[in-house]
Amino acid sequence: MSLYQSIARPLLFRLDAEVAHELGLGALALADLSPGLAAAARRRTNADRPTLRTHVAGLDFPNPVGLAAGLDKNAEAIVGLLALGFGSVEVGTVTPRPQPGNDKPRIFRLPEHQALINRMGFNNLGAQAMAGRLRELPWRPAPIGVNLGKNKDTPNEAAVDDYVAGARLLSPLADYVVVNLSSPNTPGLRALQEPQALEALLRAVRLEVKGRPLFLKIAPDLGDEAVDAAVDVVRACQVDGLVCTNTTITRPFEHPLAAETGGLSGRPVAQRSTEVIRRVYARTGGALPIIGVGGIFDGAEAWAKIQAGASLVQLYTGFIYGGPGLVHEVLDDLEQRLTEAGLSSLQQAVGRNA
Ligand SMILES: Cc1cc2nc3c(=O)[nH]c(=O)nc-3n(C[C@H](O)[C@H](O)[C@H](O)COP(=O)(O)O)c2cc1C
Repeated sequence: MSLYQSIARPLLFRLDAEVAHELGLGALALADLSPGLAAAARRRTNADRPTLRTHVAGLDFPNPVGLAAGLDKNAEAIVGLLALGFGSVEVGTVTPRPQPGNDKPRIFRLPEHQALINRMGFNNLGAQAMAGRLRELPWRPAPIGVNLGKNKDTPNEAAVDDYVAGARLLSPLADYVVVNLSSPNTPGLRALQEPQALEALLRAVRLEVKGRPLFLKIAPDLGDEAVDAAVDVVRACQVDGLVCTNTTITRPFEHPLAAETGGLSGRPVAQRSTEVIRRVYARTGGALPIIGVGGIFDGAEAWAKIQAGASLVQLYTGFIYGGPGLVHEVLDDLEQRLTEAGLSSLQQAVGRNA
């Protein structure tokens, strides 16, 4: 058990989930004061891992384990997060205008299931504030993704304008861009995953995201045919890849908090998210890069997603339960699995069990 799990987590878990979240993020944001120290921390813990370096969608990733969107919504703690060893950090979801999100409480822990339910509702400081943060970023040892959303009060008919505005301002400051149409907490958002609306939106954003890879993040609640349809649109629109998946609105268990509205994340979403990865991989014959996310708490789950077809993975809920040491735990485990399988690079493992 790590220091985080034995000391910090019991203290943090006595607090309201969002307060604990803000405390943790605030602590990480302090690393901004000393990028030199952060770089030293990353060097010390991030021993060179040549077999885990990977090249995806034209970008070099020092390792495949990234931070998923939603933790650093305003790009406030990138330096601290990179110091922990993440191979990429996805910031956002950011909307064109600042918005407060839903009423609190809006995030709930379900420790029995190693899960969270959240209905944050894209609380964020807006695209301008994020642009300022990214312009000032002193240190970029790994790709930074920007995850785009729409404001709650923008009707779906005008959603494309929000995504285009976000892309125009932020894509020049990002290494890659993600269109998020899969949050369950912005009313009507997920309807934009339907082929016709999706195509119009992705074509417009694609024109705006110049010379940068563009990804679409999809929900685990799409049926298999809907996943196929989304993949076909993504390919037709020259989008570079998919992030699979966001949180689920299903509740595959009984729990006093199961009736809370919102997206469920963590262990219970792992299996479906891996199935979606496998489905996307099969539909494209492996031609489209996949970022696999959902319920990664250890190397075994990361490995399952890579073997199902993910070139990169991300985690969020595992980080809340496992703490900062989880990144290196997963990386150590992946290195060992590659050696055991007799493989010399991560790329060789992608889709081996698709
Ligand atoms: C509290 C919370 C907030 C989230 N906010 C966002 C968000 O703003 N944008 C987004 O694309 N995904 C968001 N997510 C989804 C995660 O990025 C991820 O796709 C999902 O939680 C599954 O991964 P996990 O099981 O490792 O958490 C959020 C998840 C949580 C738990």
